[in-house]
Amino acid sequence: MNTQDRFLIERDARLKYQFLRFKMGIYNIFHKKWVWPIVAIYIAIAIYAKQVIYTTTPDPADIAMVANLISLKITYPFFAVLGFIVLLVFLGTPWGAKKINKGLNIVGLINHAGQSPFLTKRYKDHGLTVLEFEPNGIPLSQWEDKKECIETVLNMYILEIYYGGSRNKMVLRTVSGNENLPSVAYWKDVYLSKEDFILFFGQSMTGQVKINLAKTPHILIGGSTGSGKSVLLKLLVMQCVKKGAVVFIADFKGGVDFLPEWHKKACVITEENALIEMLTSIVNELENRKQILREYGCSNIGGYNMLFPDRMNRIIFACDEVAEILDKTGLSKEKKDIVSNIENKLSIIARQGRAFGIHLILATQRPDANILTGQIRSNIDFRVCGRADNILSQIILDSTVAADKIPKDSQGLFVTQDETVFQSYMFDESDVFKK
Ligand SMILES: Nc1ncnc2c1ncn2[C@@H]1O[C@H](COP(=O)(O)OP(=O)(O)OP(=O)(O)O)[C@@H](O)[C@H]1O
Ligand SMILES: [Mg+2]
Repeated sequence: MNTQDRFLIERDARLKYQFLRFKMGIYNIFHKKWVWPIVAIYIAIAIYAKQVIYTTTPDPADIAMVANLISLKITYPFFAVLGFIVLLVFLGTPWGAKKINKGLNIVGLINHAGQSPFLTKRYKDHGLTVLEFEPNGIPLSQWEDKKECIETVLNMYILEIYYGGSRNKMVLRTVSGNENLPSVAYWKDVYLSKEDFILFFGQSMTGQVKINLAKTPHILIGGSTGSGKSVLLKLLVMQCVKKGAVVFIADFKGGVDFLPEWHKKACVITEENALIEMLTSIVNELENRKQILREYGCSNIGGYNMLFPDRMNRIIFACDEVAEILDKTGLSKEKKDIVSNIENKLSIIARQGRAFGIHLILATQRPDANILTGQIRSNIDFRVCGRADNILSQIILDSTVAADKIPKDSQGLFVTQDETVFQSYMFDESDVFKK
């Protein structure tokens, strides 16, 4: 491409960009109130200038003044319109557009003619900042490759990049790079979802983290000691109780972690035999529900509950420090059989529980790959991890993301498998069931 071609391409691109800014300026006049005073000032100045130009009577002896006034009277309409067009272009230019264009050029987001995208629009949507670009022929793949560089230029985290309707609009959904998650986010009862069966975990930069147990049936919480596992487990269990689920809690620390309030609302089990009995009854209930659903031709509990008034409640089995229960190291043959039995029951629930409304919420801090291998772990689709080392993060999330993203001194900060970092909700246990 020679210099002449390059010049022409660049000129065309600039003209196109000026036109887009002009169009945006017109759009802003009708949609943005902050634009109105600026336009009003311009119109006032234009009217004042018109008054002065057309009402001034020049001294006939002053030839120069007469000539000036005549030329002003002739050119005034042209300058008034041109000035208004320039004003529209200015009003249609998003804040920081030039700097961003230059920054993108520096980081190499350029087309074959060496041009970078132009920012055409910037607005807020559900707490996110959305940036729209004229991509200048740069394809989506190139934007994705340069995502981190673009984030540095914008000083924003990019959550999503996509074509906006047509291929000549690129949309970036972002959050400010200066914002941080709160160190404590308090649970509010208004969050409690009426939907069957959504549970809230906490606050991320892009909104609340939540899952629907009807679709993602089991939860695994990992993290080193003091990372906030028990608080998060209780937060989820508390929501299950309030939503009317039947809740079983296995707590082998003697039940001390669960205040008397919990014992009133859930069945808290503190020793092994009771645990086996309870798991056996849950698995029996699973088989029972299997038969009922088959008999009535329902594919899952949601379908059954829509048809029949005698609703089936969801059943939740929650266990803090599950590794303590499942660890077979150093156990006698007899004890190992007991653990295998527990493992077997948990694995049945993990594999088949979803359709029958039976769910596991498990927490662990032990970085031992053998304890959670097999059918239990692979059937738990939603896993979150708090502060952790590489090994624990790998075991829980299949990547080192928790070790990389969660600071060592954080409490209640977790990351999901899709790398969303969130601050889990804190709540006051002593009066949680009083309201
Ligand atoms: N969401 C949160 N927000 C703020 N602080 C929290 C949060 N969760 C936990 N903490 C703080 O961290 C402390 C430890 O939390 P928690 O007992 O849940 O950790 P843990 O991971 O279960 O630890 P352990 O493995 O020793 O049982 C809590 O006492 C509380 O002060
Ligand atoms: Mg704990």
